[in-house]
Amino acid sequence: MNGQSAGIALQRTHKIGIVGAGGIVKAAHLPAYRAAGFEVSAIYGRETHRATTLAAEFGIPNVCHSLDEMLRDPSLEVIDIAVPPEAQSQALRQAVTHGKHLLCQKPLARTAAEAELLVEAAEAASVKLAVNVSMRWAPAMRETTDLIRQGAIGDVTSALFDVKYYENWDTWPWLPRSDRLLVLFDMIHILNVTRTIVGQPGSLQARYGRAQDSEVAGETWADIRLNYGNNVFVRFDEDSRIPSAQTCVRFQFNGSRGSIAGTLGVYYDYPLGRADTIKLVPSAVNESMIPGRKLPGRWAPDAFSKTMRALFAAIENDSVPPNSGRDHLETLRLIDSIYAAGRLEILPHKPGKDSR
Ligand SMILES: NC(=O)c1ccc[n+]([C@@H]2O[C@H](COP(=O)([O-])OP(=O)(O)OC[C@H]3O[C@@H](n4cnc5c(N)ncnc54)[C@H](O)[C@@H]3O)[C@@H](O)[C@H]2O)c1
Repeated sequence: MNGQSAGIALQRTHKIGIVGAGGIVKAAHLPAYRAAGFEVSAIYGRETHRATTLAAEFGIPNVCHSLDEMLRDPSLEVIDIAVPPEAQSQALRQAVTHGKHLLCQKPLARTAAEAELLVEAAEAASVKLAVNVSMRWAPAMRETTDLIRQGAIGDVTSALFDVKYYENWDTWPWLPRSDRLLVLFDMIHILNVTRTIVGQPGSLQARYGRAQDSEVAGETWADIRLNYGNNVFVRFDEDSRIPSAQTCVRFQFNGSRGSIAGTLGVYYDYPLGRADTIKLVPSAVNESMIPGRKLPGRWAPDAFSKTMRALFAAIENDSVPPNSGRDHLETLRLIDSIYAAGRLEILPHKPGKDSR
């Protein structure tokens, strides 16, 4: 992972046009860009009144009434798309014909095959396509990745993400009907980070499902194990329907010389959450003897200027951003394999650890 690129100094201003005026634009994109000094010159939203409200709050000079109107503005270099996948693919196809570089939302599309067509469209138009895999730049994930790259725990032997929280999926009116839910829209982040650290697994096991009386179509829990050979594995155990008071989020990477353990604050109170924590535990030291250290910054909004900065740097250097569309295809291929390895289990409750 490119922890360093997050701090790269830019040589010039890149004007941004934002497509979408929803929750994540308000809570993360715009506050992050304001703090980073990025210039957002135009916004377009399907509901113009929302775009107008955000434009007033964040000092955006131009509210466009159509995507075409935005794309015809030659001063805009980057289009930042933050709409659901179905709407995103249409916007992307339109934007590349105007030669705009793109920061798209995760997931780039519902499947790797659909996303590959979009990556090919961007490549054919010679524009940069980056994906907002923001958790890669969340404080705890950035530090974990840097420590592992520096050899702080030796070779990774296993890892665990244990994520129990409450998500009100109705917050996103377009999501409850999606047959792919938790893995595609939430776990995608930790799967993507894991892939950047330990690569694509050789095999995997997956179970996923939802409660019988659930009002959403897709899975709300998933239990996944990625196998890397020689008994190296990563386990993800996530349930998004736990009462908020019982939220518990921890991750741990174990290596030949020690381990890194921490928490991801965003799950405590989405989207602002708490500070992430981390601790580096040498082998032979009891984990409980080492206190967790709170990390500065938050996933939202801080990580969101880093994903955009990585794209700006790639434009300036004519290089491939670490969060490129093509890299994202690998994460979507992993997600396709996870869905193919199981079937939606409709049970009264998520099965306990022993039954899985
Ligand atoms: N990178 C991240 O960490 C992160 C975090 C949250 C959300 N997201 C992604 O960002 C996207 C938007 O999420 P959100 O939380 O802002 O959702 P939201 O529901 O709050 O907002 C969605 C926006 O898309 C617009 N929209 C919906 N359907 C549309 C359509 N058919 N055509 C045009 N516009 C349409 C809505 O008008 C609204 O402006 C989603 O793809 C989501 O997965 C990414």
